[in-house]
Amino acid sequence: MPEPIRVLVTGAAGQIAYSVLLSIAKGDVFGKDQPLILLLLDITPMMTALQGVVMELEDCATAPLKEVIATDQEEVAFKDLDVAILVGSMPRREGMERKDLLKANVKIFKSQGAALDKYAKKSVKVIVVGNPANTNCLTASRSAPSIPKSNFSCLTRLDHNRAKAQIAQKLKLGCNDVKNVIIWGNHSSTQYPDVTHAKVKVHGKELGVYEAIKDDCYLKGEFITTVQQRGAAVIKARKLSSAMSASKAICDHVQDIWFGTPEGEFVSMGVISDGNSYGIPEDLLYSFPVTIKNKNWSFVEGLPIDDFSREKMDLTAKELMEEKETAFEFLASV
Ligand code: NAI
Repeated sequence: MPEPIRVLVTGAAGQIAYSVLLSIAKGDVFGKDQPLILLLLDITPMMTALQGVVMELEDCATAPLKEVIATDQEEVAFKDLDVAILVGSMPRREGMERKDLLKANVKIFKSQGAALDKYAKKSVKVIVVGNPANTNCLTASRSAPSIPKSNFSCLTRLDHNRAKAQIAQKLKLGCNDVKNVIIWGNHSSTQYPDVTHAKVKVHGKELGVYEAIKDDCYLKGEFITTVQQRGAAVIKARKLSSAMSASKAICDHVQDIWFGTPEGEFVSMGVISDGNSYGIPEDLLYSFPVTIKNKNWSFVEGLPIDDFSREKMDLTAKELMEEKETAFEFLASV
């Protein structure tokens, strides 16, 4: 039996955690034979609710779960971590300015970055989900200088899965018959869902998506806006944000970090730009196509970028540069 790994989920009393914790505890992410110690962090007023989550996790009686530790203390939550899934963040309240939201989150992710630096293993893999996910992830990495930057990523897999599902539905295919869609940029409505390099399998034959759908107007218009605005559409209908699909996307993302991506396939992840890939400025936390092997990701290099894509990729980069600038101003002062 391997040694247990220590996995932290923050925002553990929230709605995404309620769904993702069961998948992790069942072994859907790290495998059925990998023992786990789950650490659950939330804020002090949520501790009673969190005790309820702990009881339910125990009652699931899953084999991989060896221990659950629920806490409101960072020094307990971040100790010796192998994986940190940072879901908890400050939500936007009515009348709250975007800048105030950014500032509140800089404070949280600066503190959690410093806790990672101080208490977690240096090999810890950090996945940021809480919004604004890209900039929160950059803040955490900046505040954890002893942990390699490449260990940090943010979730754009939900957008990636949404894009995949839209294409599959359009062609009446299964989702596994669609691969290599890309989400470029920010996990916000400026993201660019790109299917220029995506492939579909129709009657056993691999085709490009443009060739299969034969409707450039849809792919350059309605498809993009549907994926960009899907989160808002779910909130409008459910009066709550996406939680089941966000949880599934977290599982896909972390499972790929742990076990790697299939041969010939790439996935979308927010990672820190090296300044040499696709003309995106250095040190921006931007969603790129990546492949993963031995728990390390690499950029998918050399995809040709046309003028339509270039414009959309630059637009979302511009938004991220502005967010970064504001966040780093606050970082110095909070
Ligand atoms: P929720 O409001 O149900 O739960 C959030 C939890 O975080 C609450 O229990 C809250 O007390 C906790 N929290 C707040 N500050 C904290 C801190 N400093 N430390 C630890 N816990 C803290 O929200 P939900 O639906 O679970 O969503 C969580 C976040 O994920 C939101 O920011 C949401 O916008 C984001 N999200 C991101 C997606 C992505 O694709 N990147 C997709 C869907 C949601």
